[in-house]
Amino acid sequence: MIPTPNLSHLTSADYDSVYEPAEDTYLLLDALEQDAEHLRELHATVCLEVGSGSGCVSSFLGSILGSTALYLCTDINPHACICSFRTGLQNKTFLDVVNTTFAGPFHHRLKNAIDVILFNPPYVPTDREEALNAQSKRYVEGSWAGGKDGMDITDRFLDVVKELLSPRGLFYLVALKQNDIPNIQRRMQDKFGLSSQTVLHRRAGSEHLFILRFQRTS
Ligand SMILES: C[S@@+](CC[C@H](N)C(=O)[O-])C[C@H]1O[C@@H](n2cnc3c(N)ncnc32)[C@H](O)[C@@H]1O
Repeated sequence: MIPTPNLSHLTSADYDSVYEPAEDTYLLLDALEQDAEHLRELHATVCLEVGSGSGCVSSFLGSILGSTALYLCTDINPHACICSFRTGLQNKTFLDVVNTTFAGPFHHRLKNAIDVILFNPPYVPTDREEALNAQSKRYVEGSWAGGKDGMDITDRFLDVVKELLSPRGLFYLVALKQNDIPNIQRRMQDKFGLSSQTVLHRRAGSEHLFILRFQRTS
């Protein structure tokens, strides 16, 4: 059992502005734990979590892979960046956190460099306008407002993820049944040659959550 990261330094005041780890977060942790051996065999040098929120997931990855890897985290929400950094310190994993979106130049400089990419995106179907507003406010609403079919934000990242992945890289994505998972998988294969598997899925209240793992087709 890999211990769940210690989040005792975060308070309800932090969670007013930053996504509090929930079922989706914990399903991603379970998927990483299940894949722990496979992840270690990658000998990853660079990992990236997009939208790191509290920092719980990257800190967990740090306990699996140890201190030899570089852990990059990004989030549009500046409060989330601070929480991620603090969570890394609390759990003895140094997280290099950047307050940015994946449309920014930061990501474009990481071509073919990243061995493990994690994204638990804002996946809840909402009005497109609500998602756009949430993105520009850079606050906690940006954690869930996903626009049409919950895919407006995820789609933007899916268009660039192949450029970031190293040849042996793995990309883990959290998705909801309403996001149309077969369509995501087909599109990523046809457009970018990334094959995928469902690593785990679980019902949590009204949500049916999936963890998808993508890699280059050999
Ligand atoms: C569902 S929360 C997940 C947080 C954390 N990774 C977890 O699993 O608990 C989504 C996170 O993505 C961030 N986010 C939303 N849009 C983003 C974007 N365009 N670029 C980077 N981060 C984004 C949000 O601020 C939020 O912290």
